[in-house]
Amino acid sequence: MPLVKMEELLREAKKNKYAVGSFSVANMEMVLGVLQAVEETRSPAIIQIAEVRLKQSPLEAIGPLMVAAAKNSPMPVAVHFDHGKTFEKINQALDIGFSSVMFDGSHLPFEENCNHTRRVNDLAKKYGATCEGEIGCVGGSEDGSEDIAINCTSPAQALEFYERTKADAIAVAIGNAHGNYKQAPKLRFDILEKTASLVPVPLVLHGGTGIEPDDFRKCISLGIHKINIATATFDSVERTVRQAYESSVISGYYDLQAKEVEGAYINAMKHIEIFGCAGKA
Ligand code: 13P
Repeated sequence: MPLVKMEELLREAKKNKYAVGSFSVANMEMVLGVLQAVEETRSPAIIQIAEVRLKQSPLEAIGPLMVAAAKNSPMPVAVHFDHGKTFEKINQALDIGFSSVMFDGSHLPFEENCNHTRRVNDLAKKYGATCEGEIGCVGGSEDGSEDIAINCTSPAQALEFYERTKADAIAVAIGNAHGNYKQAPKLRFDILEKTASLVPVPLVLHGGTGIEPDDFRKCISLGIHKINIATATFDSVERTVRQAYESSVISGYYDLQAKEVEGAYINAMKHIEIFGCAGKA
């Protein structure tokens, strides 16, 4: 199965009422762990990296690895550039072969967000790629460096955003935030339902780490078809490695590497089951 467009995966998910997991990866081990879970469960999936993470994982190194891994997977996998902030990096991701890009203009004035997202969508279309935008502000920040306040999406503004940008997928803010929640979030299902009734494209839930399984399922039933998971993957890798050291099952570098893959695999398996996408490839 070749690398696929995210738009195709989300169209199927919307039609059949499930969500596709969009798993953040930082190295080869995480890519392998996620794709192992995807293959075992026969699930569609998205692997992604955010622009703020390129300090640790340079795009010119990890990008080609992600694209090659997706191309080699027997399952349909899209490769997504998450929270794009600069046209330079978005362009670079598209040149490398990412099948999808997000422009995150959620912190910008509405006009600017619309204009930039439209520009990124036009660029993505030249590559045959998918474009995701965001309206409203998801809390926190992808790398935890900023504590951005949650600003819930206005459904009417989301419709105008869609009409002006023609984005293929739209991320909404409904009380969700990046990173580990201090307490389980109270999601605004009313806002999600209203937004989904107005906007014809699949909606995206960021800040998936720590959301309760029943809340995920409710979000999916109300119009979320892509769910971003980052912190949970990183935590699972770290925890799996730490536990392995504590129980002395690591006796060399390749044991460590196998545990990193396992950590990403465990986390992806858990979310694939909750999102209802197992067996949908
Ligand atoms: P979490 O780190 O909360 O899972 O958020 C991931 C995300 O939304 C990436 O865009």
